[in-house]
Amino acid sequence: VAHELRTPITSLQGFAAAALAGIGGFSEARVRRAFEIIERQARRMGGLVSDLLDVTRIERGQLELRCEWVDLAALTREVIERVSATSPRHRLELETTGEAECQADLARVEQILLNLLQNAVKFSPAGGVVTVRVGREQGGAVRVDVRDRGVGVLPADRARIFERFQRSSGPDQGAEPGLGLGLYIAREIAVRHGGALWLDESEVGRGSVFSFRLGGETA
Ligand SMILES: Nc1ncnc2c1ncn2[C@@H]1O[C@H](COP(=O)(O)OP(=O)(O)OP(=O)(O)O)[C@@H](O)[C@H]1O
Ligand SMILES: [Mg+2]
Repeated sequence: VAHELRTPITSLQGFAAAALAGIGGFSEARVRRAFEIIERQARRMGGLVSDLLDVTRIERGQLELRCEWVDLAALTREVIERVSATSPRHRLELETTGEAECQADLARVEQILLNLLQNAVKFSPAGGVVTVRVGREQGGAVRVDVRDRGVGVLPADRARIFERFQRSSGPDQGAEPGLGLGLYIAREIAVRHGGALWLDESEVGRGSVFSFRLGGETA
């Protein structure tokens, strides 16, 4: 954790100092480049801090939901567009049979989708297709499946990756950044909606399907 938090700070300090020193001397393009990196690292820091705050809220039982009618199909389309814009080597596809409305906290469900889609991209380092299916189950629950053709999850890690700060030890995984909080937070959000989030299937070297369900007759 310390390393994950320090790296962006070090980078922020370094590039801010360089930009300051360079103003006047550096070309405009070089100063601009430094500010772009500063902006990206600050955004990353902000994300890390909000994940850490969410963990504190979850531990205290203080994760509040503000539910409204949300169309999961439309929301998924929007999140796919955002992730696609920063993932030129991946093709993200949406499969849906129409609208999929449910009572949900829009920002929190967006957080689930963002983490699952970012994971699908991050753990498919060779690129490829990510397929997201949104549908309705018997009983009325809305279900989302995110399929990637990436590195997969070792059988021994299937349960552990849902715990706080836990990341898989498999090959090809060490280089990817992250705190190991995304799945822990995402599962908690789904459970608080009366739903669930799980690893549906995975094969090392072939890819994974992560799924979640919100609402339904038990919610
Ligand atoms: N689609 C996937 N394919 C293969 N492994 C995955 C996938 N999604 C998650 N994992 C494994 O589960 C671990 C935990 O995922 P999680 O989203 O909680 O953390 P992270 O992505 O590493 O970091 P963070 O989400 O906090 O930025 C990952 O580090 C990775 O080892
Ligand atoms: Mg993640």
